[in-house]
Amino acid sequence: MNDKNIVLIGFMGTGKTTIGKALAKLLNRTFVDTDFCIEEKWEMSIEEIFESRGEKAFRQLENDIIVQVSKLENTVISTGGGIVLNQNNINHLRANGKLYLLNGDMETIISNLKSSTSNRPLLNTKDWITKVRDLLSFRRDLYYSSADFIIDINKKSITNIVDEIIEIHGNLQ
Ligand code: S3P
Repeated sequence: MNDKNIVLIGFMGTGKTTIGKALAKLLNRTFVDTDFCIEEKWEMSIEEIFESRGEKAFRQLENDIIVQVSKLENTVISTGGGIVLNQNNINHLRANGKLYLLNGDMETIISNLKSSTSNRPLLNTKDWITKVRDLLSFRRDLYYSSADFIIDINKKSITNIVDEIIEIHGNLQ
């Protein structure tokens, strides 16, 4: 199998962490999640970082971590939903990896996020559905243009999605 990193990108609630862990286990690769790396390094949760330092500072910490994890090889990397906001993140990740976009429609994303908006600072608002809609319409093109491969996640099981990624990655030269 190709030893390029498998990098999962996509909006919040598209299953990047769950699918990344499953992929890493099956392929016997190291798993890295950029949000976990940031939390570990700063000994703070993502919510605490947003609260105490603001989104702009978080984006800088995120970029620093992306630069570091991009140097790894043969790794599965799950990323935060906002990494596409900075082209520099994409350039680094692509140097050693293939970028797989987990692409879901609004309904899938809303349904997946229903139980987990409170630990996502950007969605910690009563009208989080409008926020999802606004963020998605702003970011959609960025996700598409950043992806090497677009994986449709609608109505698919984790196993189906994982198998699809393994097949594509295994066929790469
Ligand atoms: C964000 C997504 C989150 C996390 C932060 C900001 C975003 O990661 O990085 O709350 O801007 O979309 P997940 O995509 O893993 O929820």
